Amino acid sequence: MTDRYAVIGNPIAHSRSPFIHARFAAQTGQDLAYDRLLAPLDGFEAAVQAFVRAGGRGLNVTVPFKEQACALAGRRSARVEAAGAANTLSFDANGWSAENTDGIGLVRDLAQRHRVALAGKRVIILGAGGAASGVVLPLLDAGVLEVLIVNRTAARAVALAERLGVGARPQPAVAGAGPHPVNAGAPPRPVIAGAGFEALDAARADGALLINTTSAGLSDARLPVPDAVFAAAAFAYDMVYGARPTAFLAQAAAMGCPRQADGLGMLVEQAAESFRLWRGVAPQTEPVYRQLRDEIGGA
Ligand code: ATR
Repeated sequence: MTDRYAVIGNPIAHSRSPFIHARFAAQTGQDLAYDRLLAPLDGFEAAVQAFVRAGGRGLNVTVPFKEQACALAGRRSARVEAAGAANTLSFDANGWSAENTDGIGLVRDLAQRHRVALAGKRVIILGAGGAASGVVLPLLDAGVLEVLIVNRTAARAVALAERLGVGARPQPAVAGAGPHPVNAGAPPRPVIAGAGFEALDAARADGALLINTTSAGLSDARLPVPDAVFAAAAFAYDMVYGARPTAFLAQAAAMGCPRQADGLGMLVEQAAESFRLWRGVAPQTEPVYRQLRDEIGGA
């Protein structure tokens, strides 16, 4: 019988995940079906249960259900525990287990596709919501020097930095493991909160990687980041992708930031990691990325 997977969210019609997973399945010879699942805003759990009853084996979870996916799963990886959010659910005889592949997707896109040397790099994360929380620890694990979190609502940046920066370092994710054991003796991780976009200073941004995780770009709103910060940074990355450069990337380019990239590669890489978790085989991402890029446009 063909194994069933889906991406669940609200809205969901725009999702490229079915295309990506169909390409991965064809490339690796895996027999699976992958659909879009629109869940009512108050009906996530019911939709998941119905999917399982219909033979579902795994789900990708997107906005606004990532936190609920974390709460629902009986087993959570260390990454999910730390982020408080999951983008990948797998179902087996023991129930649901949750993983978060967003961070590894971002790290692979940056390191492999865009050849950004992460070791020793200073990272400035703009935004402190669900998208930010999933990527901080994987960036630190990739060797970045420090992560500075800056948000419109400063208190949220402080709360996230405190939550992710404490000394209790999660163990690496283990398939099938329950909540991570806490290593209370570990030193604090270098995660700090900034005072606001306007207060970002160019000296601190010198050579830094700027990552926009806010949803401001979706409405084309500009973040009040000082121009000098873009000029000083080495690379600007927006998790949003599209045919045209986002407002954030356009601003970065106009101010002389030497390199920019949108989040299309992260989308493909996080999907590949979910696929690998489900099927035990790692697909090639570059041909799928190229195909999507040709269709969507942008750079
Ligand atoms: P997500 O899961 O996409 O991160 P979220 O948890 O709702 O969604 O977080 C959205 C992020 O985008 C937040 O950091 C939010 O800032 P606030 O915490 O101050 O709300 C940020 N954001 C959304 N619209 C914004 C805008 N116009 N300007 C600046 N930040 C914005």
